[in-house]
Amino acid sequence: MNSKLQTAVDQVVKDFAIDKQFLVGATEQFVKSMDEGLKHSASAKEYMPMIPTFVTGIPTGKETGLYLAADLGGTNFRVCSIKLNGDHTHELKQSKFKIPLDLMKNSTADALFSYLAKKVEAFLDEHHKEYSANTNGSLKLGFTFSFPVDQTALNRGKLIRWTKGFDLPDCVNKDVVELLQSHIDLLGVKVDVVALANDTVGTLLSRAYSNNEAKTHANTVLGCIFGTGTNGAYFEKLSNISKLDLTTVPKGATGMVINTEWGSFDNTLKVLPKTKYDEIVDKETANQGYHLFEKRISGMFLGELLRVILIDLFERGFIFTELFESRHGSLPHRLSEPWLLDSEVLSYLQIDDSTDLKMSQLVLENHLRLPTTREERLVIQKITQVVSHRAAYLSSIPIAAIVGRVKDQYKNDDRDFEIGCDGSVVEFYPGFQEKILEAFNLINPLEGTNKKLSLKIAKDGSGVGAALCASVAI
Ligand code: GLC
Repeated sequence: MNSKLQTAVDQVVKDFAIDKQFLVGATEQFVKSMDEGLKHSASAKEYMPMIPTFVTGIPTGKETGLYLAADLGGTNFRVCSIKLNGDHTHELKQSKFKIPLDLMKNSTADALFSYLAKKVEAFLDEHHKEYSANTNGSLKLGFTFSFPVDQTALNRGKLIRWTKGFDLPDCVNKDVVELLQSHIDLLGVKVDVVALANDTVGTLLSRAYSNNEAKTHANTVLGCIFGTGTNGAYFEKLSNISKLDLTTVPKGATGMVINTEWGSFDNTLKVLPKTKYDEIVDKETANQGYHLFEKRISGMFLGELLRVILIDLFERGFIFTELFESRHGSLPHRLSEPWLLDSEVLSYLQIDDSTDLKMSQLVLENHLRLPTTREERLVIQKITQVVSHRAAYLSSIPIAAIVGRVKDQYKNDDRDFEIGCDGSVVEFYPGFQEKILEAFNLINPLEGTNKKLSLKIAKDGSGVGAALCASVAI
């Protein structure tokens, strides 16, 4: 590699490096930020939202019944029916629909929710005809809506702001349960939207439901998502949630699940790494200045980070110069335009060990129409690895902070801790889980206990979780 290019790449490697001291300091900051968030309104920019969810218990695995779940949170809308068998198992039927891009932005709340209601109707027509007809009672539906919502009851919550590329301004401040229910009612479908849940809450509840503690010898203490976005939910003692009006909480409750919205950790950038690339990516988003932690970690942003770094190296004359000339002054549009470099591509580049990175060559040609030299591929792979390494290391911070915080709740319980995870990055990105655990062990929040931590992929997290939320609704 020529020495100027080598120096430029070394600088990126340095900018993205994360060491133990940083992890420990950021974890302390995360805990402080949780405390502040538990005191302040969920919509303040400076504090983590820490949203009370009105879910006051964790499932035991004995819950039963048939429920519907609708899940809006990223690029797809899913509708499912879930039969909880009461023995940690469930049966699930589901349909998945890709959200048309023109309903994600430059459109209206009514257009989006009318589309969602029609998909619920289509699902019932296909799988549960008995409920689309007039003769039976209504089915209870849990609505997994994975955006920051100011929740005031199990079935009430107003959208605070959009994340992950959605941008329908007239929806902000509206109650999303009311929106869905009113469009379902317009169709005459017999469904009651009884619970609103974030996907992380769903993941926590569904993993707790399927966790057979007698076998795993572990308590489920956190539900988290590392997919298009990132976030986590855990059970907090009521006495710590000072912003909560206790008259709104069911009698006898001792705690409540909190949706942290940790994507918004450190929006004021006190501790997070700030490279010029992070700044460029943030500027390209609709929610500029918010969810800055998420923008360093999750699937929606990994590809974009790689892309802006490559463009920077190109603009400084280090890579793609011959390609640019041979194309008479342009680069393939999937490289020159924002958001077209999917993080799935990174997962192939990450682990390519073929001679001269031939596999990457094919991947880059197929996915990005990007012909490359061997040297360029070496650079692309190196950058991919540092971007994803930083993402996985940063991901360990909230996990360590929350595990460290809840260990007190379990001091008389000798079981280990497990966390339920869902999302394409944690499930499919090569080595991501291992890296999270590696960094978690550097922070070592379980020091002084005999407990160990394991990550469990929570399959069907949002569906089963929403059903569990619906099952506790009155
Ligand atoms: C974004 C959303 C959050 C969700 C997460 C994972 O951070 O704001 O509500 O849980 O993505 O889908």
